[in-house]
Formats: sequence, C-alpha cells, structure tokens
Amino acid sequence: MSDDTVYARGLRDVAACQTRISFVDPLGALYYSGYDIDRLIGRVCYEEVVYLLLHNKLPNQRELDDIKSALVSEMKIPKQIVKWLRNAPKNSHPMENIRTAVSQLGEYDFNPDENSEAANNQRALKLIAQVPTIVATLHRVRHKQDPVATTKEYGFAENFLHMFRGKPADEEEKAALDRFMILHADHGLNASTFAARVTASTFSDMYSAVTSAIGTLRGKLHGGASERVMNMLLNVDNVGEVEAYIQGMLFDGKKIMGFGHRIYRAEDPRSRHLRKVGKTLCQRIDRMDLFRKCSAIQDVVHKERKIYPNVDFYAALVLNALGVPKDFFTPFFASSRIAGWTAHILEQYSESVLIRPTSGYLGAYGTKFVPIEKR
Ligand code: COA
Repeated sequence: MSDDTVYARGLRDVAACQTRISFVDPLGALYYSGYDIDRLIGRVCYEEVVYLLLHNKLPNQRELDDIKSALVSEMKIPKQIVKWLRNAPKNSHPMENIRTAVSQLGEYDFNPDENSEAANNQRALKLIAQVPTIVATLHRVRHKQDPVATTKEYGFAENFLHMFRGKPADEEEKAALDRFMILHADHGLNASTFAARVTASTFSDMYSAVTSAIGTLRGKLHGGASERVMNMLLNVDNVGEVEAYIQGMLFDGKKIMGFGHRIYRAEDPRSRHLRKVGKTLCQRIDRMDLFRKCSAIQDVVHKERKIYPNVDFYAALVLNALGVPKDFFTPFFASSRIAGWTAHILEQYSESVLIRPTSGYLGAYGTKFVPIEKR
C-alpha cells in the first residue's frame, strides 16, 4: 500500500459511490429518492415505489397505470426457462436455481448488444417483472404443479402471491405482501447492491450484474438471515424458553439472526413496519405464539446486546404467515430488491466509472523460485 492508501476493514464508513436512489439514516430512517418510507407506507403501492426508484420521482396517475400494466404483461418468462426449472435439481436450495435461471434470462434477450438507456430501462422493467415469476414457477414445479398465469386485473404483489400459491390472495394478504415488497425494494449500498454495481461498473450486462447480486444476497449475513430466523423460531418451543436459548447462543459466541446492522444505530424502520404487518397476519391465522416468541427474543437481545431487529427478523414472521416455506424467504427478498438492484445498475451505467479498489498486500516480496522437482 502506498503511504496515503487507507484500509477500511469491511469498507465500513467508506462511500464507494454516490446515489440519488436511497439513503439509510443511522438514526433509524430510510429514504427512497427523498421520501421517508414512514410517509410512503400505507399511501403508495409497490409499483409506485418501483417507478420512484427507477425515475427518481413518484408517477402521476397515467404513469402509474402504464407501469402497472407493463409490469404484469412482462411477467411471462421464456418457456425454455420453465422447462429448465422443472428439471432443476430439487435438493438444491431455491436460491441456487433462481440464480441460474435469472442468469439464463440474458440468453433470451432479443437484443443483447443494444445498450441504449431506453433498452436498459426496458430490461430493468422485465427483470423486475420476471424474477418473481421465476420464484413462483420454481415453487410450483417443485411441487409437481403447473405454473399459474398472470391475471391482468391483479396488482403486482397480488399476481405474485397468486402465482406462487395457486390461490388468489385476499385483501389483507395483498396488502401485507405489497408492504413487504416496498420495504425490501432498496437499501442504500447494501452488499448485494454493491456487488451489482461493481459488475455494472465494468459495463457488463444487466443480467450478469443481477446474478452477482443474487449470489451475494444469499449469504446468512445478508438476505439469508430470514430463513435462519424461522429456524430459531421453530427451535424455541415456547416463550418461556426464549431467555435461556438466547443467553446460550450469546454465551457460545453465536450471532442472533435477524439482529444488528452495519448502518443503523437505532431501530431499523423496516422492522417496525413489518412487526405490525406480522402481528396482524399472526392474529388472522391464530399464530400469536410466534409473534410473542419474536417479541420475547427482541426484548432479550436488546437487554443483552443493545441491538435491534433488522428487516429479516419480522420478514420471517410475515412470509411464514403468508404460507411461504422458509427456503423461499430469500427468494421473496430478491423478488423485491430487484427493483433497487436494477435502479442502481442503471445509475452505475450513467456514472461510467470502474469500481476497482486496491488491497493491502500481506505477502512476501522476492521469494526465491524453486524448480518443481526440488519443491
Ligand atoms: N447477534 C449478536 N451479536 C451481534 C449481532 C447479532 N446478530 N450483530 C452484531 N453483534 C455484535 C457483534 O458480535 C459485535 O460485537 P463486538 O463488538 O463485541 O465484537 C458488534 O455487535 C458489532 O457487530 P459486527 O458484526 O462487527 O457488525 P457488522 O456491521 O460487521 O455486521 C451484521 C452487521 C448485520 C452482519 C451483523 O449484525 C450480523 O451478523 N447480524 C446477523 C445476521 C443478519 O441478521 N443479517 C441481516 C442483515 S440486514
């Protein structure tokens, strides 16, 4: 390293790019293109948020109508990918199949060499529409069921849930998934978005950038946490066991999944909203035991470590109550974050700068070469 090179472990507190898309306030707020999500939740639908992230402004009624119908009409995926999903290994994690299927979408791009802004905007819209279809189709074919077609009259989240479960969603379920998707749509320069931007910064194609993001999201320190939160909820038999369970985990030096955050030093605002959604859904399905377990875990972790739940903690409660199996929790996260990923990829293309940091070298210099026969 030269004398003026700064090493920041884990890139903590390093601004690796500039963005207009979203801002994560350490004091516990999240802004999408200037709007506090607390002001958006309950007032806008997921499609409006998609428009906001892509265009940096909220749509008017005509623009909203257009993006709604464009998204639903773009949901259909190539039949070759449906066939591939049918034959994909059933014992692999869904995220593995999804990562590959999204990468394959690139092979079916009609005009891969067309890289105008308009062509990339269109690609972004298609990806936002088709990642949820891949997720829903994979779930159906894994259960030997036929994929469900889109319904023109349904909203985006409603279509997604219908295509995933094979039965129409009711009002409360629609609203719950819509909120889930809004709250997962973007989050500053999180690890998967960073991965997407690094790939896009080489002017690689959008499918490659999204594939990088999906692989990054899967890890347990990122979007893979929610599935492990569900494991924890299932491991703890009742509220009475929570204290001992958490103490035991902490004593063993283990991290509690769904807690802590790199940026927030206060409560994650997304978690606050998802907690409300989760409570309503648990009441409906008579699973308040799960909600009470979550509350008890939150209290004990805060008492012991002064850390708060992040988005993945109550996401597990919400998705479980919507009938989503736990290995599909991260795929639902990807189906929403695709909005933010593509918005960032477009922004990165327009920045036109290679993201290429340096590294601190810890090895030796001038090591004597030994021919293979003498090693
Ligand atoms: N359980 C227990 N302790 C935790 C914790 C958790 N979930 N998250 C952070 N801590 C503790 C760390 O052990 C560390 O303590 P120390 O300073 O005594 O060593 C301190 O809080 C700082 O944590 P650190 O891991 O350095 O923060 P980070 O910014 O590198 O990591 C996360 C952030 C999200 C990766 C981390 O909080 C984590 O692993 N959480 C669990 C996984 C998760 O829920 N991921 C989803 C993120 S949205």
